[in-house]
Amino acid sequence: MSKMANILGLRIHQRLPVLASVYPCSASYNATCAIGSIHSLSKALKKWTSGGAKAPRRLILGLGVSFWTQYMNMAGSVGGNSFIASARQKGAVEEILKNVEWPEQFPFKEEDFQRYDESPDTLFYEAPRLVTHIDDPAIAALTKYYSKVFPPSNTPGISILDMCSSWVSHFPSGYKQDRIVGLGMNVEELKRNPVLTEYAVQDLNLNPKLPFEDNSFDVITNVVSVDYLTKPLDVFKEMGRILKPGGLAIMSFSNRCFWTKAISIWTSTGDADHALIVGSYFHFAGGFEPPQAVDISPNPGRSDPMYIVYSRKVSTA
Ligand SMILES: C[S@@+](CC[C@H](N)C(=O)[O-])C[C@H]1O[C@@H](n2cnc3c(N)ncnc32)[C@H](O)[C@@H]1O
Repeated sequence: MSKMANILGLRIHQRLPVLASVYPCSASYNATCAIGSIHSLSKALKKWTSGGAKAPRRLILGLGVSFWTQYMNMAGSVGGNSFIASARQKGAVEEILKNVEWPEQFPFKEEDFQRYDESPDTLFYEAPRLVTHIDDPAIAALTKYYSKVFPPSNTPGISILDMCSSWVSHFPSGYKQDRIVGLGMNVEELKRNPVLTEYAVQDLNLNPKLPFEDNSFDVITNVVSVDYLTKPLDVFKEMGRILKPGGLAIMSFSNRCFWTKAISIWTSTGDADHALIVGSYFHFAGGFEPPQAVDISPNPGRSDPMYIVYSRKVSTA
């Protein structure tokens, strides 16, 4: 195993108790699956870092900071001061997508998108979960971000898709548009979502084709769920198809997940790596402007972190 893989291996063993405590689960971790992913990520990062003098420094920095973050999270969980770690995290996530020299080919392999629980997603999402998946300050930060970048409420002709939606979309209070669609796995959750004007139930891992017309949405959101997509490139290509030229896609995530259902490349990496992974989906799907990352974490170190990776569909004008 390479030195990098060793480092990542260490991170996995450190991270597991944290994840397990966020979403308690009796299952033990699938080490084989994770190790496959470590090899792939290690290879991918080697590839990204082997091409020249500029990008490598930045990517190594990203991974190094990620490792540091994991280390400091551990320290925080046993009573250390996590404020310094959070300050470093902020820089790491925001920097990681600046001037990336992407490899020619999508660097991830099939095993990177395996999950510990490969049973049908319909089973996992069968019962409605009328809960929130991030804490209130993180939700408030996301809502505040939306209020800055969304088209004004009640703008004629605006359509928004909330992908991987549930009973809440975290849109600004009273926000309305002619069309706000939620696409998710559980009909009871979607029925209760007050911001939606319509909804669709679809397993994107079985059928990544979005059931909407070309160039029909101004904004696509996806909250704390991009890590469950096993065919992300197909889904991101579809997002590009259904967005209007210049339309905005906002992927947000924290450091929590249903780890048995998250892809192995996600559960074996840290926050800055996650921004790089989501950025790679935009880049390799094609048709998007260079993706950017924003750290909107509230109360660093004292509440859930919150990150955005966003991009716009290129304008054809
Ligand atoms: C952690 S919840 C987040 C829900 C919501 N976005 C929120 O912020 O509360 C994950 C969501 O991803 C959706 N999801 C998971 N796997 C999916 C799949 N294969 N296809 C479509 N949606 C999926 C589920 O419907 C679920 O509501």
